[in-house]
Amino acid sequence: KKNLVIAIDGYSSCGKSTLAKALAKKLGFIYIDSGAMYRAVTLYFLRNNINVGDDAQVADALQHIELNFHSRDYESHITLNGEEVSDEIRLMPVSENVSEVSAHKLVRHEMVKQQQRMGKSKNIVMDGRDIGTTVFPDAPVKFFMTADPKIRAERRFKELESKGNNTTTLEEVFENLAHRDYADTTRKESPLVRADDAIILDNTDLTQQEQLDFALEKVNPFL
Ligand code: C5P
Repeated sequence: KKNLVIAIDGYSSCGKSTLAKALAKKLGFIYIDSGAMYRAVTLYFLRNNINVGDDAQVADALQHIELNFHSRDYESHITLNGEEVSDEIRLMPVSENVSEVSAHKLVRHEMVKQQQRMGKSKNIVMDGRDIGTTVFPDAPVKFFMTADPKIRAERRFKELESKGNNTTTLEEVFENLAHRDYADTTRKESPLVRADDAIILDNTDLTQQEQLDFALEKVNPFL
């Protein structure tokens, strides 16, 4: 039987990864956080002063980046050239630069290539911005997630707080989400847009369990 890819796209901090992890756990699929890849590339660019405006520099940098996922209890961990960077990539310096880096054509081509390889023969749940449109346009099940922007900012703020971050304010988080939504939906290279066949999931008023139940109902016919 052919492998199954479940694609989850949507705005920033909509609970895509929470749902994706829950689905993966329930179905025994592999969870892949495509945003973590763009974040890790951004971290590399920041550390090495790579100028996103310089295509040659970007191309060269991409040759020196190796990303790997390590799954522990469906929490996805990512390494950048062997170094565990899962926590650092969630902090503001990366959040503030990731949309610019991820808009670069060469960065996208390389990430999409690697993502397609990961979904070639395995059952996966992948979340991101262009999974249902560009990475796996033929995925049989696609979700497009959205939620009220204020609720999203509060959720992300609480998540940062729970990880011990107390330097970022709720307003900064809200601004960053608005900025990334704008940048992600208006960029030239595979912008964030709902695939025609993606199921809309607005989770403003839904619990995590309700979202999982809804998604499972849609996935079940393909299992
Ligand atoms: O999913 P997350 O919010 O961690 O993604 C961080 C950023 O990476 C997004 O704001 C977007 O700019 C970029 N991204 C992307 N394509 C994806 C996943 C993430 O451009 N498939």
